[in-house]
Amino acid sequence: MNQVLVDKTREYRELVQKYISAYLEHDEPRLLYEPMRYALESGGKMLRPILALVSCGAVGGNIKDTLNAAAALELAHNFTLVHDDIMDNDGFRRGRETVYKKWDANIGILSGDALLVKAYEALATAPPQYLPRLLREFNNGILMVCEGQAMDLEFEDRSDVTLDEYFQMIDRKTAQLFSLSCTIGAILGDGTEKQIKALQSFGSMLGYAFQIQDDLLDILSDQETLGKDIGSDLQADKKTFLMLYTRENASEKELRTIAKLMQKKSFAVQDIQQIREIFQRIGTLDAAKGEVKRALTAASAELNQLEENEFRSILSSLLETLENRTF
Ligand code: IPE
Ligand code: IPE
Ligand code: MG
Ligand code: MG
Ligand code: MG
Repeated sequence: MNQVLVDKTREYRELVQKYISAYLEHDEPRLLYEPMRYALESGGKMLRPILALVSCGAVGGNIKDTLNAAAALELAHNFTLVHDDIMDNDGFRRGRETVYKKWDANIGILSGDALLVKAYEALATAPPQYLPRLLREFNNGILMVCEGQAMDLEFEDRSDVTLDEYFQMIDRKTAQLFSLSCTIGAILGDGTEKQIKALQSFGSMLGYAFQIQDDLLDILSDQETLGKDIGSDLQADKKTFLMLYTRENASEKELRTIAKLMQKKSFAVQDIQQIREIFQRIGTLDAAKGEVKRALTAASAELNQLEENEFRSILSSLLETLENRTF
C-alpha cells in the first residue's frame, strides 16, 4: 500500500478516535455506556470519518474543522452496525462478539440508539452557519440507511427481487453514508457547489463498490481475516448481488445444490468451498468484481472535477487500495 496513505489514514484514525472517546466518557449506567464504548473501541477501518477529513482537504479546507463531524459519522455508522447485527443475527464483528451477543438484543437496541444521539451531539458542535445544511444532509443520510435496511429485510422473504431493486437497496443502506461523509467534509471545508457535488457522487460510487465487495467477502474471505461470520448472507437468504446473478445464470441442478446448503444451520469449510466453486463456474464472482471495478472507475472520474492537491491524491490512492480489500 502507498506509504503516504498508510501514514495519513493511521494519523486520521487516531485523531478521530480521540474525539469519539470524548463523547463516551460517562460512567453510569454501565449497562448503557459499556456496550457503547465496546462497539467503538474495536476500531474498524474508520473509512467514513477518513473520507470526511480528506474531502474537506480536497476542497481546500482545514481538516481540523471536520473532526467533530467525522466523529459523528463514525458514531452513527456504529449505531447502524450494532442494530444491523441484531437484524442479521450475527454474533461476530471486528474479530469479537457483537454487542447483542455479548449482552443481549435489548442492550443492542438501547446502546445503538444512544450512539445515534451521541452522533448528533458531535455534529451539533459545527459552526452555526453550516449547521442547518449539515443537519438536513445528516438526517437524510441516516433515514436512507434505515430505508435500505428495511428493504434488505423485506427482500429476505422475496424470491423475485430484481438487480435494479438491489441497487436501490445498497444505494440506501451503504452508499448514502459514504456519500454523506464526503459531502459533510466538503461543506465544512467551504467547498463550492460543484466540488460538493463531485465528492457526493464520488462517495456514492465508492459506496456501491464497497457493498458489492462486502457481498463478495461474505463468501470469499475467512472469519479471521474478515472479523465477521462467513456465509451469513446465504444463511439469512439475503438478496446480494451474488445471489441475484446466480439465480439468473445457474442451472436448476446448481440452484438446488445451493438451496440445500443454505438450509444448513451452520456452514462447514467444504460447504463454503462448494458454493464458491459454483459461483466461480457460472461467472458470479467475475460479474461482481466487474461491477466493483465499474463503480470504482466512476468514482475516480468524479475526482477529475477537483483541482489537484495532496488530498485528492489520497482519495485516489484510497480507491486503489479498496479495490483489493480483504476485510
Ligand atoms: C460494514 O462497514 C457495513 C457495510 C456497509 C458493509 P465497514 O466494513 O466499513 O465496517 P468497519 O467499520 O470497518 O468495521
Ligand atoms: C451493511 O449491510 C449495511 C449496514 C450495516 C447499514 P451488511 O449487513 O451486509 O453489513 P455487514 O456485512 O453485517 O457488516
Ligand atoms: Mg445487514
Ligand atoms: Mg450485517
Ligand atoms: Mg455484509
